[in-house]
Amino acid sequence: QKKLHKHKRFSSLDLKGVADYIASGKAKRIILFVGAGISCNAGIPDFRSPETGLYHNLQRLDLPCPEAVFELEFFKTTPKPFYELAKQFFPGKFEPTLTHWFIRLLFDKGLLLRCFTQNIDTLERLAGIPESKIAEAHGSFATSRCLECGKQMETARVQECMQRDEVPACDHCGGLVKPDIVFFGEGLPAAFFERATDVCRADLAIVVGTSLQVQPFASLPRRVQCPRVLLNHERVGDMGTRADDVVVLGDCDASLRELAALLGWTAALAAVAAGD
Ligand code: APR
Ligand code: ZN
Repeated sequence: QKKLHKHKRFSSLDLKGVADYIASGKAKRIILFVGAGISCNAGIPDFRSPETGLYHNLQRLDLPCPEAVFELEFFKTTPKPFYELAKQFFPGKFEPTLTHWFIRLLFDKGLLLRCFTQNIDTLERLAGIPESKIAEAHGSFATSRCLECGKQMETARVQECMQRDEVPACDHCGGLVKPDIVFFGEGLPAAFFERATDVCRADLAIVVGTSLQVQPFASLPRRVQCPRVLLNHERVGDMGTRADDVVVLGDCDASLRELAALLGWTAALAAVAAGD
């Protein structure tokens, strides 16, 4: 008989209800499911937003289709488009957003069970959330390796090649080097599956800035048994279909700024964002 969370409900299906739920101490293991939408305010375009999304802007690279830029077979024959794109959002050029800082504040308050991210920009790490609390479902630029012999290449070396608009080649065998981000057709990191069991332990799930179009990540929010919140420009996945789902459509930074205010965390959020 699954432990029913009947007592674990929001007092009202809005941010005030979510704030009351957290303030009441019912949320001790908060799980986050985030995507490219949380980095848009940092200046990194997302993928599928009309007009501004990367897949819209990739038309100019005359790819067979936009997603080809993240397809392994295409990359092996034509690596340049990927590296041109990667230059746009290689780590080191962008700062965390208010959303990243809010997740860091949850960690500081001992309330963060795990942050599942689809993003490869490593802004969660830059916001000081420990790696043990992050599941980078689609890998990240943090490490790169040769596709022929598997030898790792330091990020700094990869970055140098990219600055010179060169495709990084392995210094051991001359093979093509690829950052450890997950391309279509590749398996997700083991850590993703090991940590996916967290969904059974969460007592609050917050989905932010993702279209929930890519599996297996998109199936995670369906598997939680606890109350769920969506903070996104648009309704996505099955969010909003459960009686106790809270859906707040709009800018995620604005929604989390309001949630922080409702929780009395405005000063704490400003302090963590200022690196205090
Ligand atoms: N506030 C709230 N929502 C936003 C904001 C914002 N400031 N900016 C964008 N969004 C929403 C968009 O409306 C969209 O629903 O974030 C979502 C972004 O969706 P995608 O662009 O599809 O990004 P994501 O869901 O992370 O893509 C998943 O697809 O291409 C692969 O591997 C890539 O990890 C990526 C995966
Ligand atoms: Zn090699």
